Amino acid sequence: MKRFGELIYTPEQASGEAISKVETHTPKIEAPEVVKANEPFEIKVQVGPHPNQVAHSIRFIKIYFEEEGRAFNPVHIATINLEPEYAEPKLTVTVRLKKSGVLYAIEYCNLHGLWEAKKSIKVE
Ligand SMILES: [Fe+2]
Repeated sequence: MKRFGELIYTPEQASGEAISKVETHTPKIEAPEVVKANEPFEIKVQVGPHPNQVAHSIRFIKIYFEEEGRAFNPVHIATINLEPEYAEPKLTVTVRLKKSGVLYAIEYCNLHGLWEAKKSIKVE
């Protein structure tokens, strides 16, 4: 029996048929490399180009943050649930961080599962 985390695809771990899905399913994270402590900034996550139909679409995007020095990680930053055909797979959120860490974006495609991307952010 696998740990749940082993069910999440990443570009590094994708194998077999999943390799052909890396480009269209791995979330793209746009965020600064360096931010100032407690100063608001934007994180954008998008997926695709990907079909957006009832039979096949991105159903949610989540952002988590692994904060350096925190006893328990991650922190849930945001989730967007998406209605097929109506909502595009994009999420923008304004965030303030106190400490450096790693952002994780997770998306779920109803046919191709969970996909992860990550990005380090340094807080000065
Ligand atoms: Fe898909």
